[in-house]
Amino acid sequence: MVKAIVPGTFDPITNGHLDVVARASNMFDEVVIAVASSHKKRPLFSLEERIALANQAVSEMKGLKNVSVVGFDDLLISFAHQIGADVVVKGLRAITDFEYEFQMTAANYQMDPSLETMFIMSPPHYMYLSSSIVREIASFGGDVAGIVPPCVDAALKNKLS
Ligand code: COA
Repeated sequence: MVKAIVPGTFDPITNGHLDVVARASNMFDEVVIAVASSHKKRPLFSLEERIALANQAVSEMKGLKNVSVVGFDDLLISFAHQIGADVVVKGLRAITDFEYEFQMTAANYQMDPSLETMFIMSPPHYMYLSSSIVREIASFGGDVAGIVPPCVDAALKNKLS
């Protein structure tokens, strides 16, 4: 039984995140999407809203039977330990992600060398995608239907109207 944790702020969850989750769900027995409170980022959506959207997005993807969603407000290594996760899975989009991800992975490794981190490369069509790009497009009334799940598209319209 290998349990993977996919952490992030998910403000909001995008099709890029869901691509990582779907691929992780094919590789691991159990996948937990861990939605960080990330107070310092002053998210557009509350933690409860981000958890609900992630849950809805996962249930819209009928094949993802081994995926669950939880919120956390702790060090990632502590939370991963608490839920019995064996591996952290993150998406890697472009070279620019590398240094930041390298730093976070090194810090996590320093604190807990038993927790492995694995990176899944984004497909080319999601390389540019981020939650802030989605928020930016949506805030000007642009169309984000192709880059976020339907529930997020509706939630953005509702939040920003
Ligand atoms: N597809 C689309 N977008 C992606 C993506 C993918 N595959 N992978 C990452 N992103 C984007 C996100 O949308 C987000 O975009 P934005 O900043 O433009 O909104 C950005 O990349 C990453 O942000 P976030 O989701 O906040 O992740 P993060 O890499 O900054 O890390 C945690 C978030 C929760 C994993 C990290 O802050 C953490 O571990 N917090 C707990 C506290 C802790 O342990 N700190 C010590 C760690 S060293």
